[in-house]
This record gives sequence, C-alpha cells and structure tokens, in this order.
Amino acid sequence: MTAEAAAALIPRGANVGMSGFTGAGHPKAVPGALAQRIAEANATGAEPFKVNVWTGASTSPELDGALAAADGIDLRMPYQSDPVTREKINNGDMHYTDVHLSHVAQMVWEGFFGPLDIAVVEVSGVREDGSLIPSSSVGNNKTWIDRADKVILEVNRWQPPELEGMHDIYYGTALPPARKPVPILGSGDRIGEPYFRCPPEKVVAVVETDAPDRNAPFAEPDAVSRAIAGHVLEFLSAEVRNGRLPADLLPLQSGVGNVANAVLAGLVGGPFSGLTAYTEVIQDGMLDLLLSGKLLVASATAFSLSPTAMDTMTAQLGELRHRIVLRPQEISNHPEVVRRLGCIAMNGMIEADIYGNVNSTHVMGTRIQNGIGGSGDFARNGYLSMFLTPSSAKGGAISSIVPMVSHVDHTEHDVDVIVTEHGLADLRGLSPTRRARLLIERCAAPRFRPLLQDYFARALGSGRGSHTPHLLEEALSWHVRYLGEGSMPSQ
Ligand code: COA
Repeated sequence: MTAEAAAALIPRGANVGMSGFTGAGHPKAVPGALAQRIAEANATGAEPFKVNVWTGASTSPELDGALAAADGIDLRMPYQSDPVTREKINNGDMHYTDVHLSHVAQMVWEGFFGPLDIAVVEVSGVREDGSLIPSSSVGNNKTWIDRADKVILEVNRWQPPELEGMHDIYYGTALPPARKPVPILGSGDRIGEPYFRCPPEKVVAVVETDAPDRNAPFAEPDAVSRAIAGHVLEFLSAEVRNGRLPADLLPLQSGVGNVANAVLAGLVGGPFSGLTAYTEVIQDGMLDLLLSGKLLVASATAFSLSPTAMDTMTAQLGELRHRIVLRPQEISNHPEVVRRLGCIAMNGMIEADIYGNVNSTHVMGTRIQNGIGGSGDFARNGYLSMFLTPSSAKGGAISSIVPMVSHVDHTEHDVDVIVTEHGLADLRGLSPTRRARLLIERCAAPRFRPLLQDYFARALGSGRGSHTPHLLEEALSWHVRYLGEGSMPSQ
C-alpha cells in the first residue's frame, strides 16, 4: 500500500518502534507520511497528535527531523543526533530518554516503556516463508517485530541484495532468571540465523521504497584528529611491547564521529595486522581497514558510510559479506561479550575533568548533544576504555579538560585513557591527584593549562579534604568563566 495508507494505521499516542541505526536501515517513506498526517491534524484539531518513537539509534531528517518538525513526538528513545530533534528536546517540547543501547531491548521486554503498539521496519526483502531479510542496520528490529502488535514493513529496493546472509539474528535471549550465556567467543562467530522471524498475520502493511540511507560524508582527517590518532597508535604499540596486548591487539570498538574515523584511518597505515572488530557501526575507516586486509572480521549492528564508501562496499560486497556480521544491538553491545572478548573501546566525548570523569552528552551540563549511545556499554565492560577529543571546542574558546564535568556519563572508574591532540594520559592505577597532574600536563590545551594547574593547586591547598580536591563553586562556574566578552584567557 502507499506510505500514506500505512501511516493512517498508526494510532494517536501509539508507541512506535522504528528501524534505523546511525542513518542506516530506517524507514524512508512512512515516517514522512505520518509527519504530514500529524501536522495536518495538529493544524486543525484541539488535541495534540503525538506518538512515542523508539529506534535503534540515530536516523535521518526524513524520520526524526520530519516528526520533530511536526511536533509529533512525545517521547523519543534512545540515541538521536538530529538537529531539529535536539532543539525540540532542549526547548522542553519533547521528552527524551537516553538509554544504554544494549539495555533498550531488555527494558522494552520488561515493559518499562509500556506496550509496543506498532513496528515500522525497513527490510531488504520478504522471503516466501514470511521471514524477513534485514537491511543495512539491525538495531532493535528483532525486538520490535517480536513485541509489536502490528508490523508495517518497508521493503527498500535500494539496499544491495548481497546483504542477504550477512546478518546474525540471535533468538536465544531471555530475561532473568532464565537468561543464558551468549555463546560468542570471537568477533566473527555466528550464533543465530540470517533472517527475522515474523508471523505474517502481524503484518498490516507492506510499502515499497527505493531510497538511500543517510550516508553522511566524513571530513578528511585534519591535523588535530591525525595527532590524536598518532598518540593512540603509539600507545597501542607500547602496550604490545610491554606485553599488555597481543600483537594483533584485541577486538576494536570505535565510536562515532570524525576523530574515531581518523584513528581507524591511522590503523590502515599502522603496524598492526590480523585485527578484529567487535563494535557498533562500520564506518568509512572500518571499511578501509577491512579492504586493507589488516582487519580480518568486523561485527557490528549497522553501517554508517559516506556515499563514496557505500559505492566501494557495494562493489566489494561479494567478498566482504563473509567478513562482516551484523547483529541485534543488544548483542553487538552486550556487556557479557564485550567483557569476554576484551574490547579496546575508543569513543569521543564532550569534556573530561581532571580526575577522569567524562561527559559525552551534555553541553554546559544542560543541553543534550546526541546521547550516550553505546559508549557506556563498551567503556564499562571493555579491556581498555579510551576517550578521545580535541583539547578545546568552539575555535579554542572552551577547554575540553575542566575541573569538574558539568554532567557525568562515564565515571572515573570506567575511564582508562584520555587522548587529545596534545598527548595521551594513561590513568590506570593512578590516584585522583596523580590523574589530575597527568591529565593537565598531557591533555589540556597549553592556554588552559596554567588555569587548571592554578585551580588544582588551590583546591589541594584549601584544606577542605584532599582525596579528590575541589573548590566546588569555582569548579561549577568554570564553564561560564571565560565565555563573557573580553574575558578569554590570553595564555
Ligand atoms: N563544550 C561545548 N561544546 C562542545 C564541546 C565542549 N567541551 N565539545 C564539543 N562541543 C560541541 C562542538 O562544538 C560541536 O558543536 P556544533 O555542532 O555546534 O559544531 C558539537 O559539540 C559536536 O562536536 P564535534 O567536535 O563535532 O564532535 P564529534 O562529531 O567528534 O562528536 C560527541 C563528539 C561527544 C558529540 C560524540 O562522540 C557523541 O555523541 N558521543 C556519545 C555517543 C557515543 O560515544 N557513541 C559511540 C558509541 S559506540
């Protein structure tokens, strides 16, 4: 049926589970038609028409953007990165629940978000027996199809047919006390089946589409991200030399954004081979690493490729499909598996404080940027948890190293290593005051270093207790201190 007819099946106030993860595999037609319907209803009706939107992670302007612009979302969960959605959330016009990506499926099974009324899921094909060929992301689709009363399918002809067989949909999950071990012992292990099961009687609509994924281009690595990548490579080499990592490292996890992509690009030219990845998304850098032959196999839940990389991958899919496994996000990010495999987690951040607490989500402690995504799944459970960032933001005006983070996503206990373009601080085994000295010296931008040293020295000497010394009023006002006109530090 048409997207408009399918959208008409979504009731006012419904909980809607949509496919989509980092701009891949989201429904392309029904959300726009729903947004249109909502906008028309809200223009004339007295009662606002809204739905609750659950996804895998970020989607695209035609899903998040369109529904947010129509004021059609009451509650959104989990990760998002859409500018219109961000604005609505920060203005208080939309509720947002930021959940660890590995937790979403179990929280929905536990019923914390209420019943799932309807799923809108993109697939790349429907088989004769009713099973579904997943598309370029898996995300929470298995859970949506299992839990929803009704299912709307978008079958997207644009998705390459070679995707068939790449997915590994695991049907062995259960809630405690019936939960069993997830039997993955290596990144490339397949423990499930290549298709979604879907009772045909649940399917209330099938909509055909022929539309691309979001496929945002990555910026070419700049000097700052190349410097960060250089520090990471040097550190990993030293870990191998010191016998703390094997020569082929441990499974890599790489977060979103240009810095993470630059580290992967650095690994292409680096000394390591025989690598594996157990991660969330396959972005351009991960693809290059696969094509270079240095990365043998990659497990993820989605692609997140630029248009050029998408063309390259499609051309090489015949060979690559045996080296890529796409899993549900509760498995790609599963704490048990991440811990067992000993992932090397590399994620971006907004800011870190001198004691190693990390803020990944809130600018100035109040305005959400994107969300925690899978960073907590990997940082908490990996073998090595690294956070990477330029040492300052907004053209050098704001230090990414601060006395006290304005919001905590990853506590000092989950943060091993912090890297900026100026250097790398290995915080493992250090007490808070030693961490502070090292972080300021290695990672802070030179112009902010004296200010941080001054803060730390005064906090240490304040006589107010010194395990984690702070001057609380000053720490909390750090963010506004240098933003006023003419008050920029000159160092
Ligand atoms: N203070 C104020 N603003 C800051 C800032 C700081 N310390 N650090 C970054 N910002 C702003 C940037 O200026 C930019 O703003 P703009 O959009 O207005 O230009 C924005 O935040 C994004 O920063 P950018 O440098 O472009 O970041 P990025 O693409 O490398 O992403 C995160 C950095 C932290 C936003 C991103 O990694 C993220 O969302 N992480 C959480 C989820 C995650 O880690 N997922 C991976 C798990 S598998």
